[in-house]
Amino acid sequence: MAITAGVDIGSTASKAVLLIDREPAAQIIGPSSTNPKRTAREIYEKALAAAGVKAGDVAYIVGTGYGRTQVEFAVKNISEITCHGRGAHFLVPSVRTVIDVGGQDTKAICVDSKGNLLDFAMNDKCAAGTGRFLEAMSRSMEVSIEDMETYYFEEGDPCTITSMCSVFAESEVINLINDGVPLPRIMKGLLLSLAVRVSSLTQRLGVVEDIVMTGGVAKNRGVLDAIEKKLKIAMKRFNGADPQLAGALGAALIAADFAEGTELGVERS
Ligand SMILES: Nc1ncnc2c1ncn2[C@@H]1O[C@H](COP(=O)(O)OP(=O)(O)OP(=O)(O)O)[C@@H](O)[C@H]1O
Ligand SMILES: [Mg+2]
Repeated sequence: MAITAGVDIGSTASKAVLLIDREPAAQIIGPSSTNPKRTAREIYEKALAAAGVKAGDVAYIVGTGYGRTQVEFAVKNISEITCHGRGAHFLVPSVRTVIDVGGQDTKAICVDSKGNLLDFAMNDKCAAGTGRFLEAMSRSMEVSIEDMETYYFEEGDPCTITSMCSVFAESEVINLINDGVPLPRIMKGLLLSLAVRVSSLTQRLGVVEDIVMTGGVAKNRGVLDAIEKKLKIAMKRFNGADPQLAGALGAALIAADFAEGTELGVERS
């Protein structure tokens, strides 16, 4: 029996997945902090407790994400691009393009039939196509991140949001609210403007089906719908699995490869 773990320290959220023989036994999500070493240890310990597993029984641990070097107890650190590819492929084996929209950056990832990384494109310079953009808009509209999709799916034509920058887009939203424009119209405009950025990044890489979306923002069905409209392609869904955990899941699967000596082809870093 091989017990392995993946710990994904993202810019915004920290995630841990524990696998027993490649089957999920525990998965934990918590906020990232200014002390990533401690956060990593805490979420890992929570995952061990949730699965009823002792630390000494874990065969291999892979750290990933922005803060992967801070996962001191990991045997290896692997880029989250590789890990999201593997996690998404485990959940949807037909996937060839993974769109990961996290808190701070957006990545389009191209994988082969085994889920191994072929190529990627990344936006890490601008908040506009990321979760940070949604968080700012959620604050100015006083609508929780979770409720944004409800407004998106209500009746009304989308407003045009012209600002390319999330800071200016926020002022634009405040002006629209003060002009009495209904929230569903503003929400549609916002999610479509996020989708324009995400889909143009994906098109830069070359859109190869099947496509799935990972990262916390993929929980928002409005964002999924808006990206599908812009790409004019239907994406596959995870059938109940949490897209935010895809990177930690991929890290735990790669840890299983290392534990079993079948890691050939996995990027080493
Ligand atoms: N239901 C939801 N709808 C939309 N966005 C959400 C939802 N739940 C969480 N998010 C957003 O997901 C983001 C966090 O996702 P994730 O954990 O993938 O990011 P991360 O890995 O920390 O960031 P990065 O990969 O950029 O370093 C946050 O910006 C959060 O606001
Ligand atoms: Mg991430």
